[in-house]
Order: sequence, then C-alpha cells, then structure tokens
Amino acid sequence: MSHQVYFLGAGPGDPELLTRRAERLLRECPVVYVPPLYDVTFAELLLDKEVLVPFEFYFAELLDRIEQQLLLGPVAFLVPGDLTFYSPFQALVDALGDKAIVVPGVGAANAASALLKKTLDLPGVCSRAILASPRTLGDGPDAPNMGDLAAPGVSLLIYMNNLPLAELVAQLRHGYGADVPIALAHRVGLPDQELIVATLDTIVAEVGDRDFFNLNTPDRRPALTLLLVGESLAADADGAWWDYRRDHIWKPQDS
Ligand SMILES: C[S@@+](CC[C@H](N)C(=O)[O-])C[C@H]1O[C@@H](n2cnc3c(N)ncnc32)[C@H](O)[C@@H]1O
Repeated sequence: MSHQVYFLGAGPGDPELLTRRAERLLRECPVVYVPPLYDVTFAELLLDKEVLVPFEFYFAELLDRIEQQLLLGPVAFLVPGDLTFYSPFQALVDALGDKAIVVPGVGAANAASALLKKTLDLPGVCSRAILASPRTLGDGPDAPNMGDLAAPGVSLLIYMNNLPLAELVAQLRHGYGADVPIALAHRVGLPDQELIVATLDTIVAEVGDRDFFNLNTPDRRPALTLLLVGESLAADADGAWWDYRRDHIWKPQDS
C-alpha cells in the first residue's frame, strides 16, 4: 500500500486543540514536518519521530525528500491553525495530488472567538465577517486599505498585521465611522496568551509600547497576534433571539 502525506490542522499551538483524527494520524507517522514553536508545544507527541522544519528546504528538494520518506511510511505536516486561511502549504498539497490528505483543525479565528466567548455574526448586530491582512492587500495606488473593508455591521478579523497600530486604527475608524470594539488576541492557546479588549479610540493607549506585531524586531515572521474588530464583540444576545428561532425555524412544524 502506498503511503500518504497528512496535512494536519494543528490549531493555534495548544496540542489539546488537535482533533482526535489528527492525533491518531500523527501517532502513525514516523516523519513529521513541524513549524517553529510547534516542536516545543507538541514535544510529547513528537517523541521518537524524525522532526524536520519544512521552511529549511526549497520546494523541489522538499518534494524529493517527501517522496523518499513515503517509501518507508506515512509523513505528516503540522499546519499552524488550519489550512483554510493563510496557510503556506497549498503548493505542496497540489503537487502531491492524491497522496495528500488534509485534516481540518482549529484556526486562530476559532480559538480567539472562544477566548472572547463571542460569536462574530450576531443577527441584528453583525451581518458579515471579513478575514483580511494588510500584509496581503497589496501596496499599489489602487490597493484597498483596511478602512475600505471596515463598515458598520462587519466583524473584521485581521491576520499578520504589519502596520503601526495607530495607523491601522485610523484606517478602521474611518471605515466604521464610529468607535467600535476591538480585541487583540496574542499567542492564543499558548500558556502566555493575552487578550486586550478595548475600542478603536482606546486601544493604542491601552497597548502602549508593547510590540505585539514584531514591527520593531529583525524577525520578519508575522507575530502570533490576531485582531478582531466590530460591534459583535461587545453585543449581548438576549433570549428573544432564541425564542424567535424556536418559533420560526426549530419547532417541528406540526407541534
Ligand atoms: C500565516 S497565518 C496562519 C493562520 C492559520 N492558518 C490559522 O488558520 O489560524 C499567521 C497569523 O495567524 C494568526 N495567528 C496564528 N496563530 C495565532 C495564535 N496562536 N494567536 C493569535 N493569532 C494567531 C496571527 O495573525 C498570525 O500572524
């Protein structure tokens, strides 16, 4: 039987957030490609395995290595969060074709929403959510900025921020046209996780000199910080919402 390459959604960093399927497959793989940080937090699950850092290889070399490793057994990649958004592994998945199996995981958005204890699409408050990053919006004269995505009723999830916080907040303030809640979720799922909940008008002072986005370090890697913005962060859902749905959607039609 030919072996497979498993791209396992590894969650935001806490191995407790692995699915049972991902954990089972990980146990079966003698070779695992592990991005930095996950070698530390997943150390217990990686004992006795060959652990490699995927970013140490160019693409063709990586594919050659995987083909060799597949002759001996299955291979796993730990995918930070989940493949759905901002994952660097798509080219590998495509090149491996039928040999690649993708297993979903808990994305940073899911983990931050749980930390906040907030759904991000509360009816009557937020009608849509947008995931974006200023890093990938482009920088040509016609490129949109984050303010173009912000609007009343939008929950905005901002990945890999590379703008000074005051500049980002000014763009958002323009888009929302009001002072709306913002949460900064840092290193979610790790023992030193931090959550700052403020508003657009107060977040800059609240954060102070802290460099939550690696803007002042030689390290070019995006920081483990997710920003969430929008009215849903501070809205309370009342029971009327529940009863409306029970009457109109959930209740069996003949009762
Ligand atoms: C390259 S993207 C990977 C996202 C990943 N595919 C996911 O679904 O969560 C990296 C960005 O995700 C966010 N992120 C990832 N892990 C995080 C964590 N533990 N805490 C907060 N934000 C995190 C940060 O915005 C970070 O810059």
